[in-house]
Amino acid sequence: MKIFLRLVMPLIILIGAITYTVVPLVDSLTLKWFVKDIEIRNKLVFSTMQEPLIEVITSGEPKGKIKIERLFSKAIQDERLYAVALCDKKNTLFTKTNTFPDDIKCPTDSISYNAIKELPSGLIYIASFLLNNPEDNSKLGELILLHDLSFIERRSAQTKKYIIYFFAALGMVISLLTIITVRISFLGLMKGMRSLVQGEFIFDKSAKPTTPEFDPILKDLRNFVREVEKERRFRDEVRISWTPKALKGILQKELSGEEVMIVSNREPYIHIKRENHIEVQFPASGVVTALEPIMRACSGTWIAHGSGPADKEVVDKNDHIRVPPDDPSYTLRRVWLTKEEEDGYYYGFANEGLWPLCHIAHVRPTFRSSDWQAYQKVNQKFADVIVQEAKTKNPVILLQDYHFALLPKLISEMLPEATIITFWHIPWPNPESFGICPWREEILGGLLGSTILGFHTQFHCNNFIDTVDRYLECRIDRANSTISYRGKLSAVNNYPISIEYPVKWSKNAKTIELCKQEIKQRHNIDQNAFVGIGVDRMDYTKGMLEKFLSIERLLEAYPTWIGKFVFVQIAAPTRSSIDNYQRFAHEVDALAKRINHKFSYENYNPIILIAEHREPSIVFEYYRASNFCFVSSLHDGMNLVAKEYIAARDDELGMLILSQFTGAAQELPEAMIVNPYDIDQCAQAMNSVLSMPVTEQKERMQSMRSYVQEFNVYRWAGRMLIDAARLRRRNKILGKISL
Ligand code: G6P
Repeated sequence: MKIFLRLVMPLIILIGAITYTVVPLVDSLTLKWFVKDIEIRNKLVFSTMQEPLIEVITSGEPKGKIKIERLFSKAIQDERLYAVALCDKKNTLFTKTNTFPDDIKCPTDSISYNAIKELPSGLIYIASFLLNNPEDNSKLGELILLHDLSFIERRSAQTKKYIIYFFAALGMVISLLTIITVRISFLGLMKGMRSLVQGEFIFDKSAKPTTPEFDPILKDLRNFVREVEKERRFRDEVRISWTPKALKGILQKELSGEEVMIVSNREPYIHIKRENHIEVQFPASGVVTALEPIMRACSGTWIAHGSGPADKEVVDKNDHIRVPPDDPSYTLRRVWLTKEEEDGYYYGFANEGLWPLCHIAHVRPTFRSSDWQAYQKVNQKFADVIVQEAKTKNPVILLQDYHFALLPKLISEMLPEATIITFWHIPWPNPESFGICPWREEILGGLLGSTILGFHTQFHCNNFIDTVDRYLECRIDRANSTISYRGKLSAVNNYPISIEYPVKWSKNAKTIELCKQEIKQRHNIDQNAFVGIGVDRMDYTKGMLEKFLSIERLLEAYPTWIGKFVFVQIAAPTRSSIDNYQRFAHEVDALAKRINHKFSYENYNPIILIAEHREPSIVFEYYRASNFCFVSSLHDGMNLVAKEYIAARDDELGMLILSQFTGAAQELPEAMIVNPYDIDQCAQAMNSVLSMPVTEQKERMQSMRSYVQEFNVYRWAGRMLIDAARLRRRNKILGKISL
């Protein structure tokens, strides 16, 4: 049907048009040319016959008639000369060839020839020539020549046929060319449309339109789609009240209840041996804090490194354990690593290479090829476990952090239908800084196996896109924040991470007063003293030295606080087999001792350093007991301690001093934002919050609490799931419209 409409139909129309217009025109033209030709021939025949005829007629010889008849029969041997006749001077037929029609009379004054005539046998051309006596110019007779014109009809029929053939062929070629051109253009348009739906555009790297003719349409269409999407996303988000139930609902509605898998290096529950029993510990990790409520809401499987000393003793034969221990709702699958693997992959490449590479904390990254090999090996090991654990061919896999930069690509090859959401929890540096990594292309290519790649801030997204632009051959659509690399499209978006709200510890929480009382008692702090709190892993990126130096400056600049103010720093040991971390822990300890020594008297010490792990429920009590929390990171992706502190303050009091180099500072402008390198400014900020009126504290805290409530971790995960579902739908549409 398509062929008929596209090819045959136009041909029929063309042939019809030719038959009614071109052919008659060609007919009349050819007839004119042939008649002209015949007139020339007639003249030639006449001039050949004129002399012998005049001679025979004037001689009056008796055999003259026979001679003339012979001459005539010779003449009509020419296939075109059909008949000849001779009339005498009185216009009476003297002689003729047998072929001469009887009804043609000799010319008279009233009958003249030199015209086309239609006889029953066909068309003829009749011409008459006067024979005059050369001596006196008197009339001797008239020669009539009849030319057969039927050949013209035959020729004309042939010409018609050729013309129709010619035009039909021409028409066919034009139709085919048109179809091919339209098809190519259509493919271009569809390519553009596909690119549009995918969120990328038909621009090459140098941002020049590759199909400029479609650019204006696509530009409008793109803007329209973007606007509609933005609006829809905003409407969707605002309408939802972000709870675990809402998140579950999104999973059911948007992703038809697809299986969810989380992959992280750190596990949510660590089993350790205590004398004769096994205890469960909740690690000090922002990633785990954020993800655990998500997993509780969505169920599924969490795959992580089994790093606890008693981990192996509690898993089943498939290395599974149901958690949380008090209310099991999802499966933890533990992956075992050898000491060499852990040293190379975790301590080495991840934490001596990528961690300092991505944080501007002035610690040089160390890159060893043996670490890189271990990193590759462990990423492959996790990829194999993921495939083994996947119950469907298209699970939603949430990959966490810089430990698994190669996993997205590996999984997308092994489970091509999986939706891979990778979240990079730490900052992404600028292209120059990242460029020193010897395996930068492999890392970027690995991450671009993701369906969605998330960062906390737009700034980190931009850094990532610029880095990819610098080191990989790919197509980047900055307006839509997508990267197309080796046929795979990844969306790069910012999703500021958050915490569960309300926090689970708030359910049976002790009152603020009781927390204050107990903690002060525990640490020998005067019940009337003001308390500041810091909660960090013992990491050089956290700015603990700067924090302590600013406490020293506070006490120097405002000595009235000596004895009336104590700062409690919880510093969970971390990555302690790395030299830099050991050195840092010693420096922190030494600095705290030096400052304490400087200001201590009787039982008073201004800094209480707890260089140990504390369970989140206990940390929660410290938050509630403190007058302010100081987050002094030198560089931090988000920093969830800031949000945890806010969530813990249901009395709407307390203040947050927050480093401007955290992702959280962009979301919480009501906090006291500081530059941790500026010791005087930080000392000043502490003095201000310690003297801040209750009304101002309330105002700031209320605003921050409502923000954290609205933008909680369910919204963080929900937004990624909604975007993933949208991308899945796009890909389905693309599948349908791909030609
Ligand atoms: C911090 C970072 C995370 C990282 C985690 C790892 O929380 O913000 O991005 O995953 O540390 O800590 P770990 O103790 O597991 O090395």
